[in-house]
Amino acid sequence: MDLLPCFLLVSLVLSSSHLVSANFYNDFDITWGNDRAKILDNGQRLQLTLDQSSGSGFQSKNEYLFGKIDMQIKLVPGNSAGTVTAYYLSSQGDKHNEIDFEFLGNLSGDPYIMHTNVFSQGKGGREQQFYLWFDPTADFHTYSLLWNPQQIMFSVDGTPVRVFKNSEDLGVAYPKNQAMRIYSSLWNADNWATRGGAVKIDWSKSPFVASYGNFKAETCSASSDCSVNSWYGAEALESSEQQKLEWVRENYMIYNYCSDSKRFPQGFPAECTR
Ligand SMILES: *[C@@H]1O[C@H](CO)[C@@H](O)[C@H](O)[C@H]1NC(C)=O
Repeated sequence: MDLLPCFLLVSLVLSSSHLVSANFYNDFDITWGNDRAKILDNGQRLQLTLDQSSGSGFQSKNEYLFGKIDMQIKLVPGNSAGTVTAYYLSSQGDKHNEIDFEFLGNLSGDPYIMHTNVFSQGKGGREQQFYLWFDPTADFHTYSLLWNPQQIMFSVDGTPVRVFKNSEDLGVAYPKNQAMRIYSSLWNADNWATRGGAVKIDWSKSPFVASYGNFKAETCSASSDCSVNSWYGAEALESSEQQKLEWVRENYMIYNYCSDSKRFPQGFPAECTR
């Protein structure tokens, strides 16, 4: 290959998406809880805490329109009942879009629930919940979102756990016109989080601490052309990924709105056929 086309190709790839790697100072603002949220280790780590007077949270400085985003999280250890650690993408306004991970704490030794949801044009109600196949408090694990015009894929340590496909052809709104920020917070949700609200926070165990690290994002903005990135064009899972997804659904999924027939006596939402 001639040097010149090669150079052009490389610079095209570099300019078309924005790769950010692991610096919380550069990429995030602490937006809630004052010094309950702390950036540590020269920006490599971030810690959120919750005590009886407040939780805490942070958000990305930038807004993104599509992206492949990885975050390592180590959830609140020990008795975390009643706490929720939320990690999500969201736009603003009453017709907002949102892609959620929420981790519902539990008593020591009892499993966390990983709750997921997708909002498009202000409409959510698309919950899927999972237990995890590891102890999410013992170590950092990578929680990823791949969001492109065709699909939203949630994965954990590289294992896909949920795919929400673009079903605009079935009349379902899809998040694709509003840029979103990354948000995370740790808060008191003991009116619903653990066993439906039956188990309350034990404040004698506070402060509760969740830790973050190794943030990586390959993202697009409203002005950049992302279409040269392979993740941007991905429409389906590879067969090995599909097998992993099915393994998770069979063994760890504990709630799926698409099979909750009591909730949808008139028939399931259109996207449930995908
Ligand atoms: C907490 O543990 C109980 C008992 O194992 C389980 O039923 C529940 O799903 C767990 N998670 C939450 C968040 O309530």
